[in-house]
Amino acid sequence: MPNVMEWLDRQPKWALAVFTVVLSLLIGFVDWKTSPEIAFTLFYLVPISMAVWLVGRRTGIFVAILCAFIVLTSNLLYARVSQYSNPAIPYWNLLMRLGVFLTVVYLLSALKNIYASLEKKVEARTAELRKEILERQRMEREILEVSEREQKRLGQDMHDGIGQQMTGVAFMCKVLQQKLSEKSLPEDAAEAGEIAGQIHRTVEDVRRMAKGLFPVGLEDGGLDAAMENLRSNVESQFGVSCFFSANPGIQIENTNVIIHLYRIAQEAVTNAVRHGNASEIRIDLSRQNGGYALTVQDDGIGIVQSGKNAAGMGLHIMRYRAGMIRGALDVQKAESGGTRVTCLFTDQAVDPDEERIA
Ligand SMILES: Nc1ncnc2c1ncn2[C@@H]1O[C@H](COP(=O)(O)OP(=O)(O)O)[C@@H](O)[C@H]1O
Ligand SMILES: [Mg+2]
Repeated sequence: MPNVMEWLDRQPKWALAVFTVVLSLLIGFVDWKTSPEIAFTLFYLVPISMAVWLVGRRTGIFVAILCAFIVLTSNLLYARVSQYSNPAIPYWNLLMRLGVFLTVVYLLSALKNIYASLEKKVEARTAELRKEILERQRMEREILEVSEREQKRLGQDMHDGIGQQMTGVAFMCKVLQQKLSEKSLPEDAAEAGEIAGQIHRTVEDVRRMAKGLFPVGLEDGGLDAAMENLRSNVESQFGVSCFFSANPGIQIENTNVIIHLYRIAQEAVTNAVRHGNASEIRIDLSRQNGGYALTVQDDGIGIVQSGKNAAGMGLHIMRYRAGMIRGALDVQKAESGGTRVTCLFTDQAVDPDEERIA
């Protein structure tokens, strides 16, 4: 029915007006051919309602008056005025019918106005919402891009700035150690050596932190290299066992996809250590349903499936990143214990300018 109404709505107004007039005449013809004892009033309401709803109020009034006169004519053609107990009766009936028809016209056109204004409001609100959603998505994307850029900058600064300077200081300590031992001050020389060793260890820490912020080669080393990087970083940073395995032949080319997957896996392993107290984490890359799946599984206490977790930024950003690579994220308490994070994805990142309303 809505389809018929939509189709009718698309027809030219004049054609619809002609149609309602013809329909009124047709009903009038049948009314005339049957005895006036049988009331046809309801049928006349069809062309009248169509005229009001599809063409307009004025056409509705015209068709209503036309229908009232058609009924009068058909009645008079069937039985002469003299056959009525009072000659005024057909005209009285005409006025009554006209009253009913015009009331219907008035009510329908009022209803149509309300409907139209509601529809306009809904359209305006929908457009506003659409704009707000797109704006929010743009902001989210920008925040992620800025954070990615800042992490990269910070990582490079730490590596090239603090890292290099401290390496220089460690070297100076080594030289000092040498000089002190040449001056036969073995105790002082040992102390200088210890300082050099301490600085070396700090440099290692700084390097590792810098690598965590933005691993070298993340942008051009491929997914395997990125995950391997993460794996070794997790082992050295948290002291837990971390394994990475990938189905052979999986080649993810898109750098954005690699960066998003790396960050998803990084958040998942950090959660596994921080919240799950995991001692073993497995990162797995496989083919699934024509796409790919990245799974991070830990042997920790397992995530509690509650509303409270929804408030976490980490899970939210992981989901957002999965969406950015046309994927989906699933976080479950694994049957074997621990938590399993699965990201199903394709090798396509969402175009930054693409409008996406989920
Ligand atoms: N691997 C996990 N094991 C146990 N609990 C987890 C794990 N990952 C997430 N959670 C739970 O989900 C919550 C939300 O995680 P997340 O969104 O990353 O936020 P955050 O790490 O900032 O607390 C955590 O506070 C924790 O309670
Ligand atoms: Mg987290």
